[in-house]
Amino acid sequence: MISKDYESGIIVKSPGRINLIGEHIDYNGGHVLPAAIDRKVTLKLRKTENIPCSVTSKGLGTFTFDINKPFKISSTQWENYVLGVVDGLREKCNGKLGGFNCSISSDLPIGAGISSSAALECGLAKGLNTLFDLGVSDMDLIKISRMAEHNFVGNKCGVMDQFAVVMGQYKKLILLNCESLEYRLIDADFSPYKIVLLNSNVSHNLVSSEYNVRVSECEKALGTIQKKHPEYTFLADVPETVVESLKEKMPKKVYQRALYVSQENTRTLKAAELIQNGEIHKFGELMYKTHQGLSKYYEVSCPELNFLVDLTQNIPQVIGSRMMGGGFGGCTISLVKEDFVNPFMDLAKKMYKKKFNIALSPILVEISNGVEITNQ
Ligand code: GLA
Repeated sequence: MISKDYESGIIVKSPGRINLIGEHIDYNGGHVLPAAIDRKVTLKLRKTENIPCSVTSKGLGTFTFDINKPFKISSTQWENYVLGVVDGLREKCNGKLGGFNCSISSDLPIGAGISSSAALECGLAKGLNTLFDLGVSDMDLIKISRMAEHNFVGNKCGVMDQFAVVMGQYKKLILLNCESLEYRLIDADFSPYKIVLLNSNVSHNLVSSEYNVRVSECEKALGTIQKKHPEYTFLADVPETVVESLKEKMPKKVYQRALYVSQENTRTLKAAELIQNGEIHKFGELMYKTHQGLSKYYEVSCPELNFLVDLTQNIPQVIGSRMMGGGFGGCTISLVKEDFVNPFMDLAKKMYKKKFNIALSPILVEISNGVEITNQ
């Protein structure tokens, strides 16, 4: 068939994200400290009059849909990220969105907790916004991308990933208040330390089911707290002393989740201050505390991630390390002295292989801009 593609297309580079600290805090209305990174999903988008639209992802295949018909949720996960975003934009823009073809490639590993899904969602949302001149604001694109995850993927995620992917800036961290969406950029100066991710290459099935369980446990905790203290609207705002005072009123696990959230929000604000003051070693100590909280109280770590964090404890050139993202697999994030990055990666690979017989994928990351669009 002769293609009816018209006009030149666009190329969208959409980054993954890291999070320095503030894990599982976004959906609790607290503060997080993410940044966009130099690993990206690339989308090539072009308008077409052909029906149906077609989306091809290198390695994952091709699927098609009719832009003018209601969508059904797909049994293939990655397709739902696309369908969810297109559905949200369609609804927002009333007939302005036309047919398009899209091809996707990526150097961002999937399932590694560095938000390949948000990179795809936000890259597509911003790309279509540009291609069809829809005039949707960044904030609305962030919301549409997040809702794609809620409504089409079934993951009740917070706003952190989408926000970082869209709003990220070169060499800056984003201190984001996830409730008001107010944010402040902070210089990401960790010199002489580098940010190293260790991708465990495991992704336990619990990721999305347990994630939603944590969301509802936090809702339960807040509900209990509000009976006595209706002044708190978000769990992250509740001081540790108040959580402690209501310990007996909550099931043990619910109490532990609340305690972690309260402590982690405080840690994140402290961390931002330390980084700004150049007190990187003290920040590193907070990373270990976060890991402990995530593994013992929030229970979203796994043996592979614990092993990778533990092995750094006796390496003086590593000043902080923790699991990153939703958990149950994916990556750890560590601050490693520049001249020890390669030996660290080699050592971690060797020890991990010996322990789990799984190949580890270390990634040295730089902090980069959010979604960028160029003409094809
Ligand atoms: C996933 C979610 C985010 C956030 C993190 C944990 O990446 O998509 O919204 O909750 O987990 O901090």
